[in-house]
Amino acid sequence: MALLEFSDISKSYPGVRALSGVGFSIPAGHVHGLMGENGAGKSTLIRILSGDARADEGAIRIEGAEQRFGQARDAFDAGVVVVHQELQLVPNLSVAENLKLGRFPNRGGVVSFRTLFEEVRATLAEIGIDVDPRAKVSGLSIGERQMVEITKAVMIDARIIALDEPTSSLSSRESEILFRLIGRLRDSGKVILYVSHRLDEIFRLCDGCTVLRDGRLAAHHATMEGVTRERLVSEMVGREIADIWGWRPRPIGPTRLAVEGLRGARVPEPQSFEARAGEITGFFGLVGAGRSELMRLVYGADPASGGRVVVDG
Ligand SMILES: Nc1ncnc2c1ncn2[C@@H]1O[C@H](COP(=O)(O)OP(=O)(O)OP(=O)(O)O)[C@@H](O)[C@H]1O
Ligand SMILES: [Mg+2]
Repeated sequence: MALLEFSDISKSYPGVRALSGVGFSIPAGHVHGLMGENGAGKSTLIRILSGDARADEGAIRIEGAEQRFGQARDAFDAGVVVVHQELQLVPNLSVAENLKLGRFPNRGGVVSFRTLFEEVRATLAEIGIDVDPRAKVSGLSIGERQMVEITKAVMIDARIIALDEPTSSLSSRESEILFRLIGRLRDSGKVILYVSHRLDEIFRLCDGCTVLRDGRLAAHHATMEGVTRERLVSEMVGREIADIWGWRPRPIGPTRLAVEGLRGARVPEPQSFEARAGEITGFFGLVGAGRSELMRLVYGADPASGGRVVVDG
């Protein structure tokens, strides 16, 4: 029997049909990907699962039992924890207070902060998250806040954990910690519903996946067997990949921009590249890698200390 089942879920907002008749189910011990383009309805489905939004029609069943989530607390009590795209921590409280909110250890009504910090410290250490339980959430990076949210799901021992684009603000090191954590949760029989645009993550983590398009179920894959990147992309956009953006192989013309050994105050190593007619040239790197600084040199916003820029020869 499926641990989690969505049955014929529909939801409209004024002027938008966010979900129409979406149904699929996920067995225990599975990580299930939820994919789709912007506005496909992924977050709406997650909000219905979390009790933050009500479906107009349809039902959610957990181990076959229909659930009525009037509010977030109901979903929580049924063992559902959702880490939303927009984080929902209390900035002025510490990490530990956030993690145990509503469940502070107490004796005779007096909160034991020592026990609170100790418990949270132990859990964070066990999971491998390097955050001080006494630190205020307002002082944490977005990635650290995300990890705290995810830790919350682990601490309450939820049966169903939905993560809405969790890696969008995580560093690659933090993502690795998250992926390990997801693997552990899967092995202990949870259902993880994993919303992501990132195909690499879907293939790496998921046992199956569902694709939404314009609020409808475009595809459901109970396993990833035989599922290719190309297939997922065309299910997401509803066209063959070759048709996306009207893309066709096209002839590339002559070099129009040549940058030769360009350097400046904030680009110490000389940089060279070419861009040809009909070509899109991408610049890739982490924040601070020097992409913007190089562009500023190319178009003359900052003075170059060496090299040259050649246009049309
Ligand atoms: N509270 C709301 N009020 C009105 N319309 C909404 C509301 N929430 C979502 N929508 C609309 O419902 C549709 C589905 O939105 P949803 O946020 O579920 O998409 P999504 O798949 O999560 O997209 P993204 O990848 O951008 O996060 C969109 O057209 C969106 O504009
Ligand atoms: Mg969303």
